[in-house]
Amino acid sequence: MNKLKVGFVGWRGMVGSVLMQRMLEENDFKNYTSFFFSTSQAGEKCPFGFAESEYLIDANNLEELSNMDVILTCQGSQFTIDVYDKLKNQNWDGHWIDAASHLRMEKNAVVVLDPINSDLIDKSYSGGVKTWVGGNCTVSLMLLAIHGLIKENLVEWVSSMTYQAASGAGANNMRELLSQMGYLFNSVSDMLENRQGSILDIDHKITSAMLDKNMPINNFGVPLAGSVIPWIDSDLKNGSSKEEWKGQNETLKILGSQYAPVKVDGLCVRIGTMRCHSQALTIKMKENLSIEQINEKISAGNQWVKLIINERDATINQLSPTNASGKLDILVGRIKKLNLDSNMISLFTIGDQLLWGAAEPLRRILSIISNK
Ligand code: HSE
Repeated sequence: MNKLKVGFVGWRGMVGSVLMQRMLEENDFKNYTSFFFSTSQAGEKCPFGFAESEYLIDANNLEELSNMDVILTCQGSQFTIDVYDKLKNQNWDGHWIDAASHLRMEKNAVVVLDPINSDLIDKSYSGGVKTWVGGNCTVSLMLLAIHGLIKENLVEWVSSMTYQAASGAGANNMRELLSQMGYLFNSVSDMLENRQGSILDIDHKITSAMLDKNMPINNFGVPLAGSVIPWIDSDLKNGSSKEEWKGQNETLKILGSQYAPVKVDGLCVRIGTMRCHSQALTIKMKENLSIEQINEKISAGNQWVKLIINERDATINQLSPTNASGKLDILVGRIKKLNLDSNMISLFTIGDQLLWGAAEPLRRILSIISNK
């Protein structure tokens, strides 16, 4: 079988680097003839010995791009806007795999999350679809967590309250979060050793430091360390953020017609963690199942779900971003019935937003296409 010629764009950024790492770990590159493009360093030596071209190729060169069977980009929406239509207009017939959100809602694009929508992917592939887009991280992580309930058509609606990591806002934001933490620590470090000192004096100084002009806030615009930011992405001017809008709309697009529609809404909140998104879900079930049945179904959802028993010690030791970072595990815990309604449950789920939330679905769709 001929290997597909795959052009990688944006492979040096944060999502791109995680993708490269995963592809190297899984020994994926042996399956492709790989070309590495760059928007800014064309002509420089490619760091990968297995690459087909020894030098980086210009990612703005449409002729070079159009030689590819597949273009996989983690470069961001602006690159997609600049290049995708031009390539299509010159009748390029390859597959476009994209980490950015720009094409997600296009009629001819599939939002890929193959553990859940492999039937939709297969059907779309047969129908001639060639545009494959990774979903919003929060949505993908949520769907993987409740996969076991969705596939049995047990979910009427989900209210998702998110605790999203700095990485979702970008690499610079991760650095800024740490700079903010350091700035706050430095502002009181001499007071911390003095056990007789007043914690209220320390707190007062921290609040002043957060608000003073040297607090590093260029990226977030406000302090995140020691605080939270209850708004993610743009303002839709109807009371919701774009991130919250994605919850409903991307869920429906990912599920397609294979599953019953699920209603989703909630609030999306940025918190001071590095790369794992957490979500507290309230779920209205269609049936009144026991906790044992619910645990069993959630565990059986897919091989990445890791159920954590709803007890204090297990929860604080295992259900945390610290335990999910850098792993493909989808942690799910705090599953309990709510007193509000016999069909309502809560759960808390955590996943690495750079892995299942971004790079992994792209790595997998590339492999699916190449095996067709
Ligand atoms: N929009 C997400 C966030 C990340 O800001 O956390 C990308 O899906």
